[in-house]
Amino acid sequence: MSLLCLVLSLATTVIAIKVDFPCSNEIPKSLYHIWTSTGFSPEARNSTNWTWPLNLTRDERLGLALIGSLRGGALTHVRIHWLFDFITYNHDSAEETFNFSALDSTMSLLHQHNLSPSFELMGNPSGRLLLDDQMDQQLLRSLVLQAISRYQSKFGSDGVQLWRWETWNEPDLRMYWNASLPAYISYLKTVVEALTQAGLKVGGPAGLFRPKHRICWHALDEFAHLSQPEKKISFLSFHRKGKNSADEVIAGTQGLIKAIKFRYPNLDSIPISNDEADPLSGWWRPCDWHADVRYAAMVVRTAIRLLDDVAFLSNDNAFLPHAPHYFTQRTLLARFQQSESSTHFFLKPVAISLVLLSLLGEKLVPFTINESDDRLTIVSGSSFSDDGAFEGATVISFANETKECPYEAITVDLALHCEGSRCADDARYALFLLDNIQTNPERVWRERGSPAMPDAVLRRRMRDAQGPFRVVTSAPLTTSLTLTLRVPSVALVQVCSKREAMPGAPTNLTALHPAPGETLLVWSDLEVGTRCLLGYEIYSRNSSDATWTKLTQGSILTQWHHDAIEYEYQVHAVDLWKRHGYKSSIVTRRD
Ligand SMILES: *[C@@H]1O[C@H](CO)[C@@H](O)[C@H](O)[C@H]1NC(C)=O
Ligand SMILES: *[C@@H]1O[C@H](CO)[C@@H](O)[C@H](O)[C@H]1NC(C)=O
Ligand SMILES: *[C@@H]1O[C@H](CO)[C@@H](O)[C@H](O)[C@H]1NC(C)=O
Ligand SMILES: *[C@@H]1O[C@H](CO)[C@@H](O)[C@H](O)[C@H]1NC(C)=O
Ligand SMILES: *[C@@H]1O[C@H](CO)[C@@H](O)[C@H](O)[C@H]1NC(C)=O
Ligand SMILES: *[C@@H]1O[C@H](CO)[C@@H](O)[C@H](O)[C@H]1NC(C)=O
Ligand SMILES: *[C@@H]1O[C@H](CO)[C@@H](O)[C@H](O)[C@H]1NC(C)=O
Ligand SMILES: *[C@@H]1O[C@H](CO)[C@@H](O)[C@H](O)[C@H]1NC(C)=O
Ligand SMILES: *[C@@H]1O[C@H](CO)[C@@H](O)[C@H](O)[C@H]1NC(C)=O
Repeated sequence: MSLLCLVLSLATTVIAIKVDFPCSNEIPKSLYHIWTSTGFSPEARNSTNWTWPLNLTRDERLGLALIGSLRGGALTHVRIHWLFDFITYNHDSAEETFNFSALDSTMSLLHQHNLSPSFELMGNPSGRLLLDDQMDQQLLRSLVLQAISRYQSKFGSDGVQLWRWETWNEPDLRMYWNASLPAYISYLKTVVEALTQAGLKVGGPAGLFRPKHRICWHALDEFAHLSQPEKKISFLSFHRKGKNSADEVIAGTQGLIKAIKFRYPNLDSIPISNDEADPLSGWWRPCDWHADVRYAAMVVRTAIRLLDDVAFLSNDNAFLPHAPHYFTQRTLLARFQQSESSTHFFLKPVAISLVLLSLLGEKLVPFTINESDDRLTIVSGSSFSDDGAFEGATVISFANETKECPYEAITVDLALHCEGSRCADDARYALFLLDNIQTNPERVWRERGSPAMPDAVLRRRMRDAQGPFRVVTSAPLTTSLTLTLRVPSVALVQVCSKREAMPGAPTNLTALHPAPGETLLVWSDLEVGTRCLLGYEIYSRNSSDATWTKLTQGSILTQWHHDAIEYEYQVHAVDLWKRHGYKSSIVTRRD
């Protein structure tokens, strides 16, 4: 601990935050969950001698299952580079054919875990497309149209409606677009026309817009010269990162948006996205702050501060870390790969912070604060369930970029007003906290000597530290509560009125086995119908006629890790009033 931290701790400020949760549905402003996208580049594409078709590795598939099942809506989109390299081109047959087999299994995996791709139209089936001045535009158009119609018939037009189509990633870097500007412009024209022909829109140009790089500005020139660009372009995307700083991401994003809006007034109605909004470029760079709540708080701050500026943003953090940087690369998960068929994953605080954000409702609720403190970032949201029950939440992050300083604290007096009949009867609140003391699996691991192969006991302790930590499980709503936050922290206060219905059944319960003798259960809360849960209870039995044993009063996450493989599992939700919900279907071990 630095001396500076101790000195500052002498004066702990008290501030008052007041949130007036509405008593009616008439809240003017929507709270868009702009932060629900992540991204990565397939591991295999980085090997020096990769060949077509690209395919996901076992760990990449497990990683997607884990992040897809944090909680419904915590993450909705995954931006994946090089998807066209998952396709092969058949040279032999008289008819030109693409083979989508590897891409099909990848898209099905996303679908199975309730994720949609941000489908970058990037890569080159078997290297067949000439990405230069001789580009075969007919073949490129055919590839794009075949991909669209294939996945529309596989997942339905409604399913594919949620997908985000985007042009080639970072065309201003040679490692991505290694051809001329004219070749890029013909690529761009072709994909815009193809998407338009399919009745869809495309976003782009997903680039850096560095002063020396002209290619992305040329892309915007092209967009601006389209007739009715708003009917063809779904979003304008760019990448702005910080140098170990969320505030640099925020300022950089706002600055570039201003420049774009000034230069292209006729693109003004098109939504804008920073779809690589990372606090530091280079995902592989190990930094201690990537491991803990500092990174989580930076992601939360960036998302909340950019609510008025972008339609959505993405953090490029669905990569999997490599030894010995188990925690410290820019990832949502920590990974200890023991062998080809045995990997231990842990959720980093940044992943859990997305779970907390997902508990915010869809309407923005105003708040007042009696004193400003630049380390605070606050947002409040509410929604109503189908039967009119109220579900409100406030997220407060208290952090200062990459600083770790647990003796630097603030006391928050939080006044929650929820008036009217909706909140009158038996309203309850819950309080969750992420900080580097309670929820820091990396610290637990480090304090045990940072072993390359953590044993079962240590792994359990690390999982226990994943969070979110429940400060208050479920208590009658009081008008005022006090909480102390340390640098860095992310807290969530949830306020709920009682629904009539009990929670619905968890769906799509699936058992995976990341390591021998272990089970990872994942399920969906799409039909559970409420955010106000104590958590999920997990039951198992070792034969179909045995009685069920309760394994845990689990967390609010829609996944659970078991250090065993039982014959059958079943899950149900428990709400804040301790009412048990409908049971999921049973998942049975396949021998
Ligand atoms: C803000 O409210 C807190 C708690 O009520 C109080 O201790 C503090 O002095 C107030 N600050 C200002 C600037 O009024
Ligand atoms: C790609 O692989 C090389 C080793 O082959 C490694 O040094 C580098 O960090 C990797 N880069 C990325 C972006 O994965
Ligand atoms: C090249 O590819 C082969 C076959 O896929 C693989 O066995 C080998 O390890 C690879 N070599 C390198 C340097 O990646
Ligand atoms: C597509 O490729 C896969 C594996 O690469 C192969 O098993 C399959 O037979 C191919 N399909 C067609 C129609 O050629
Ligand atoms: C891609 O990987 C999946 C999962 O391991 C596998 O089922 C599929 O056959 C692979 N596809 C190809 C074309 O290699
Ligand atoms: C999930 O479960 C629901 C309800 O049982 C079912 O309709 C749906 O097809 C399942 N989704 C997937 C991706 O398996
Ligand atoms: C770009 O293409 C040239 C010519 O084909 C090749 O020599 C070079 O290695 C490529 N650069 C990258 C970064 O792929
Ligand atoms: C954040 O930390 C920096 C560097 O230690 C310090 O200069 C700055 O005053 C801190 N910000 C706040 C709001 O405390
Ligand atoms: C259930 O069966 C598995 C494998 O047969 C065994 O490892 C496990 O200990 C059993 N669990 C109980 C509770 O008996």
